[in-house]
Amino acid sequence: ALAGGTVLLPVGLQYRGYTQTVSGTVAPFTLSFRTPPVLNPVRSDSTTDYYQIRMQKGQVDILPGRTTEVWGYNGIFPGPIIKQRANRVSTVRFINNLDVNTCVHLHGMTSSPQYDGYTLDFISPGYYKDYVYPNSRAANFWYHDHGLAQTARNVYMGLAGMYIVQDDQELALPLPKGNYDIPLIIQDRQFASDNSLIFDNRNQTSVMGDTIVVNGVPWPRMEVANRKYRFRVLNASSSRSYGLALSTGDALTVIGTDGGLMSAPVNTQNIRLAPAERYDLIIDFSRYPLGTQVELQNLPLPNNLVFANTDKIMRFDVVRSETDDSVVPSTLRNIQSIPESSAVRTRDFTVQQRADGVWAINGNGWDRNRVDANPQLEDVEIWTFRNTANLSFHPMHLHLIDARILDRNGQPPFPYEVGLKDVFYVGENETVRVIGRFRPFAGKFMYHCHNMVHEDRDMMSQFQVGQGGINPMSAPARPLPA
Ligand code: C2O
Ligand code: CU
Repeated sequence: ALAGGTVLLPVGLQYRGYTQTVSGTVAPFTLSFRTPPVLNPVRSDSTTDYYQIRMQKGQVDILPGRTTEVWGYNGIFPGPIIKQRANRVSTVRFINNLDVNTCVHLHGMTSSPQYDGYTLDFISPGYYKDYVYPNSRAANFWYHDHGLAQTARNVYMGLAGMYIVQDDQELALPLPKGNYDIPLIIQDRQFASDNSLIFDNRNQTSVMGDTIVVNGVPWPRMEVANRKYRFRVLNASSSRSYGLALSTGDALTVIGTDGGLMSAPVNTQNIRLAPAERYDLIIDFSRYPLGTQVELQNLPLPNNLVFANTDKIMRFDVVRSETDDSVVPSTLRNIQSIPESSAVRTRDFTVQQRADGVWAINGNGWDRNRVDANPQLEDVEIWTFRNTANLSFHPMHLHLIDARILDRNGQPPFPYEVGLKDVFYVGENETVRVIGRFRPFAGKFMYHCHNMVHEDRDMMSQFQVGQGGINPMSAPARPLPA
């Protein structure tokens, strides 16, 4: 599945006008791996955990010994992790202490329209909004900004964080847990010589950096024991996709996709990972003698330029001997797959670039007053995404539902992407068919390309499930008490 040559350019060269970047001052695999802090609720009752997050500027150390200003959830980069149990409710109060409008979407969550981060449902500076999340299923989610025409910038400046929901069934499996269950939030950034983040959407095509950061650390080095680890991988980059692979050539064991655990684990040599996609992986370090260094690499994808140093992501150093009682069960969960024959209609979406240089779906850009699909509640539909260009890929994302890939260019999906997904990698010259059931909420929801630069200009539209439903603008943000 991976083809195309590596294009190696010297650091800095690929950004004309920004030759003075400081990224070259960090040697890969010298900084220690860390994970974002887990957020505690401010209070809990019998059904609900209440959280509070301030969106604010923060001065953080991304480059060693230097300070970079971010716009962060609680001022950190990336934001804190929220861990929740399935079917407990989370109410998260997001307070805007920035001087720009914000809008929060919990990506993957089946949220009611007024809590889904509708792109015009802004939280102005000095306002807050309480979002209510039902946590109806276990999966790896993430929260990020979703404001119209500003998503790429706001996420790039720091507004992204992971949100994990676990249920009893998953916790009962003998998978690696606790210190062996690790989030990996992968992003790329570019720094100016004053250490500030350079946001350059290069004429509305993409924003890319020459520094790969994992959990906010450039090319970290993680010390591991010779046992199995579970990694919850999220690509929170704005535009960059990755070809994940181990430098040893050994298999990664995929146990979950965007929508939670797969029905059975799948071994694969590499994974194509687009912005917003999540994969849950097991890496077994018991294969390696102590002292082995295993790199997580970024193999070149077609048209995904791999620049100097962006061919590597992080390194695992096997330094300790430990016993391992974890097991990867051959059955992970029972996923009721929706048969193709139950689809009541098919919709076709051509994803393309319009003549005036902005991005479009079926020739249209975003229009708050236009709805491009109206599945009825509980309808099963097949959506076909067609990318006829050979210069860009489009990770297409549907809000509200999980779906499953039926085929790509008439061929079965890659074995590791057969699980439930909400982001579908539509590569160059690819046609991808997905099937899903539109439930449980009536109302308006967005779908869009998750290259956030494309999303901002203007590859986003909306579908309406059923008739009516809750107005997504019906729970507006409120001013903070003086
Ligand atoms: Cu992760 Cu509509 O977005
Ligand atoms: Cu796109």
